[in-house]
Amino acid sequence: MTRPDLPPTQLFIDGSWTAGAGEPLVVENPTDGTRLATLHTADASDVARAVTSARRAFESGPWARMSGADRGRLIARLADLVESNAERLATLEALDVGKPYRDALAVDIALAAETFRHMAGWADKIHGSVVPVPDHMGRSRLSYTERIPLGVVGAITPWNAPTMITSWKLAPAFAAGCTVVLKPAEHAPLATQLLAELAAEAGFPAGVLNVVNGPGPVTGAALITHPDVDKLSFTGSPHTGRVIGRAAAETFTKVTLELGGKSPQIVFADADIDELAPVAALSLFANSGQTCAAGTRVLVHRSRVDEVAHALAGQAEAQRLGDPFDPRTTMGSLINAAQRDRVLSYIDAGRRGGASLVTGGSAPSRPGYFVEPTVFVGDNDMRIAREEIFGPVGTIIPFDDVDEAIRLANDTRYGLAAVIWSRDINAALAASRGLRVGAVWVNSFGAPDPRVPWGGMKASGIGRELGLSGVLANTEERLVNVVY
Ligand code: NAI
Ligand code: MG
Repeated sequence: MTRPDLPPTQLFIDGSWTAGAGEPLVVENPTDGTRLATLHTADASDVARAVTSARRAFESGPWARMSGADRGRLIARLADLVESNAERLATLEALDVGKPYRDALAVDIALAAETFRHMAGWADKIHGSVVPVPDHMGRSRLSYTERIPLGVVGAITPWNAPTMITSWKLAPAFAAGCTVVLKPAEHAPLATQLLAELAAEAGFPAGVLNVVNGPGPVTGAALITHPDVDKLSFTGSPHTGRVIGRAAAETFTKVTLELGGKSPQIVFADADIDELAPVAALSLFANSGQTCAAGTRVLVHRSRVDEVAHALAGQAEAQRLGDPFDPRTTMGSLINAAQRDRVLSYIDAGRRGGASLVTGGSAPSRPGYFVEPTVFVGDNDMRIAREEIFGPVGTIIPFDDVDEAIRLANDTRYGLAAVIWSRDINAALAASRGLRVGAVWVNSFGAPDPRVPWGGMKASGIGRELGLSGVLANTEERLVNVVY
């Protein structure tokens, strides 16, 4: 491929690109270990400048006075610009994350554009209600609620799907009238730099979006402890989610946390294995397994275990690992050496813990941080079935009846998503009611859609993004009483 058209490397604060006082951040191509770019990073004083700018934009200036319709127009313009720059965004995303360019274009960037477009439509449809309340002295009383924007949102994103997840945070916040300080994932910040440039081109007033790159424990820590942030919106690990929740408790900051999962795919005895195999494999191996909703516990009725193992092995062996820009590639690399080593250590734990390896299990001998798609047969108590691996590793777990399937599905600290595979829709719906998760798929699996809520239960997080719930999560209710 030709030399990529790299985005600006500085911080984006108060409508301009500006130097950062933090340590320079080297951005790496995980498919070959080469350096892609070096970015400025923000120290605590840069973060404070960004928060001040976001506060000013929220309270005074054009954004604060703008109608919902006009905010919607800006968000729609950003959707247009994401579409017209889709190839450039997808190139940066593929380079930075190591994911197939085709997937970046068709999934990440396409869904980011759709998210901005969908949320643009909400901007002038956010309203309260009139509530009949009797006046204690018999006069007339008008009580109504308004939905007002929460204020300054601190958004912290992960590296697995940077542009898409950034759109989940920016689009509803902008629709609600909030301003944002965004701390992108330090392992994949490039496409977000371009997105900031596109937001400026769309005409968002200075301070509405600020981007402060840098490491979590430095830049992220400064953002989550800043007293003038009204809401923190985070996607990432439960560990960091807990750190953020604690910091937010000190300042009574609102939070939404999306913290990954260990999602079950329940294969009933009557399931059509040929039909489910490619989709179940997609859920396991898309983005090299680095997706929060990955269906990594494949719970299978004991009568079908061998068939499912055989079918998933076939799917795994058909994957082509390689250069994200080669159209034949179906799987790229993992994000970095640490993640590859972490995934390999889980594979090792699977072997040592007594799981039987069906396919995969190694890192191919080639440059970059690749891991083969891997399938085990094991049980739900094994470490590989309890902890989020965030790599292309699935475990088939046998069950004997529906009650046991539901018990195993819920026997996890997570509760993000679940998939049910059955030809009997009544049985599938009955089973869905027993699942402690934020989203159930019946006979399919796919990426979150901006029109519907997204989020988890238990250690998978707090709150919802996307859909109307995601918009309202960026607002507060204000009650007005008029007695006349
Ligand atoms: P992480 O949770 O540490 O990083 C996510 C974001 O949080 C990054 O932007 C990071 O800079 C920021 N961050 C880290 N520490 C922070 C702090 N003290 N204060 C403020 N911000 C902070 O995730 P990491 O270490 O990159 O990945 C480890 C594991 O987390 C993965 O293997 C996976 O299991 C899980 N994960 C889940 C994701 C999801 O989509 N739910 C996404 C990324 C990771
Ligand atoms: Mg990178």
